[in-house]
Amino acid sequence: MQSDDDSMKIINGKEIAKEIRSEIENELVNLKNRNITPGLAVILVGDDPASNTYVRMKQKMCEELGIKTKDSRPGSDISQEELHLLIEQFNSDDEIHGILVQLPLPDQIDEKLALSKVLPEKDVDGFHPVNVGKVTLGEGGFIPATPAGIIEILMRSGNDPAGKNLVIIGRSRIVGRPLLNLLTQKRKGGNATVTLCHTATEDLSFHTLNADIIIAAAGSVNILDASMIKEGVVIIDVGANRVEDPTKKSGYRLVGDVDFDSVVDKASAITPVPGGVGPLTIIMLMKNCVIAAGGSFN
Ligand code: GUN
Repeated sequence: MQSDDDSMKIINGKEIAKEIRSEIENELVNLKNRNITPGLAVILVGDDPASNTYVRMKQKMCEELGIKTKDSRPGSDISQEELHLLIEQFNSDDEIHGILVQLPLPDQIDEKLALSKVLPEKDVDGFHPVNVGKVTLGEGGFIPATPAGIIEILMRSGNDPAGKNLVIIGRSRIVGRPLLNLLTQKRKGGNATVTLCHTATEDLSFHTLNADIIIAAAGSVNILDASMIKEGVVIIDVGANRVEDPTKKSGYRLVGDVDFDSVVDKASAITPVPGGVGPLTIIMLMKNCVIAAGGSFN
């Protein structure tokens, strides 16, 4: 049971996403005055249910904001060459400023090769090696939506990572590794002392017990409990794990990587699942689309 005290510390990702949304809406007005309508192309291969949901949510947000969308939904038997052709069509489409190839892709597709075909200036997911390189070097480039959203959450909830001991759990290309780079850079939203833990980390608690901020992005349920954290820690739970739940219409519910009920009393702030990081990932993608179309944010 959550007390009133608990609800105070639960970071509201939807509210933070709303703040950013209004900043995006302002910039969309500026673009409109310059006769620019941003366009996002979505390529969804096959019919993975989770990918379908994510794509639907992204397209709905585009519609709400007035970002034009085009999509292509090839079957899961698409060849590498056919997928490259689809990407190249959007690369040369002047109405399209951002291209998103929804992951995961089927086994026969070389994912890295496919993503490298997206023009870097249309790579709003920030997965192209040019953008990965620029972000790593601190030289601009599109920051992937989830890491960008996590930094917004920290800053806008009054938990600036500067000077803090910060532990990331999970070394994925999409979340853990870009965060390691961004959070260690001498920049606003950075300047933390960062430890990246992963599946070969021998004693996870040794690291997490010393952390002021923990970002759990391992993709496994209950990776963190109360015995592994110190009093007052800030916890960002990036997990979006589907667990079976016959009481739900969908047959599943979404849970994070963290044992929420166990850690909530000791934490000074924590993101819930759902309603924490999730809403930010969509809005930060929209922000990258607006930037790709020529918009700017300070
Ligand atoms: N699949 C899971 N997360 C993402 C994401 O951020 N972008 C894309 N394209 N696919 C994903």
